[in-house]
Parts: sequence; structure tokens; C-alpha cells
Amino acid sequence: MVPWEEMRALAQTAHTRAYAPYSGLQVGAALWTGRHLYAGCNVENASFGLTVCAERNALACALAQGERPAALLVLAPTPKPIVPCGACRQVLWEFCTADLPVLCANLSGQQLCLRLGELLPLAFELGG
Ligand code: THU
Repeated sequence: MVPWEEMRALAQTAHTRAYAPYSGLQVGAALWTGRHLYAGCNVENASFGLTVCAERNALACALAQGERPAALLVLAPTPKPIVPCGACRQVLWEFCTADLPVLCANLSGQQLCLRLGELLPLAFELGG
């Protein structure tokens, strides 16, 4: 069972810790590996291209502990539930299967759950 409620609380706290002085958009992510939970927030930089999204920061935390994602939740104070950007979809693809559930949420309680394969059909793969 994926601990969605716990993940939502974790992502909500993480989004308050985002470093987003340039866009103003504070994003939080929570990643479940089946054993542990990891949080991430977006960290921006004056050199904009160096910005790292909340999802990729949560993923890096899990990988550093030798774990792989089993479920992901992303949350932001957006009018509609936030969905992972294209770059994050491709980076997740490297470490996940197409059936990874991704719960996209906003602070108003709206949410939608999609599989990574739905978010990234025809993912790029070397040799494929
Ligand atoms: N951002 C994320 O953290 N995750 C997403 O899925 C979309 C975008 C961040 C990157 C940047 O700091 C800000 O949101 C605006 O693009």
C-alpha cells in the first residue's frame, strides 16, 4: 500500500523549503520506495539552467540510499495539480517502470494520478 497521506504531508512541508526566488513557484515532492519515504523541493539558481526540480531532488535522495522509486507525489500551490516537467519524466524513466504511479496535486486538494508511461509515452531509450 502506497502511503499517499504521509507523502502528501511530506511534500507539503518540503514545498515550504523550496528555494525559488526567481520563479516564485515552490514545489514539493515525496517519493516512496516501498521501504522508505524521501522528500524533495525545487532548488533554483541565478544561472537558471542549473535549477533542479523537486522530483529530481527526491529521486537523488532515494538513489543515494540505494533505493528505487515505487511511487511519487508532486505538489505545488498551482490552480491545477502540478505535473512533472518533461525533463523529470525522462530522468524518472531511467530508474522506474512505466507503471510508476505519479500523484499530481495542488494545495487546494485537487489531484490526479497517472502512470509514468502515460506521462511519457514513447520515452527515449538508447538503442530503442
Ligand atoms: N518545477 C519543479 O520543481 N517540478 C516540476 O515538475 C515543474 C517545475 C520547478 C522548477 C522551477 O524551480 C520552478 O518550478 C518553475 O519552473
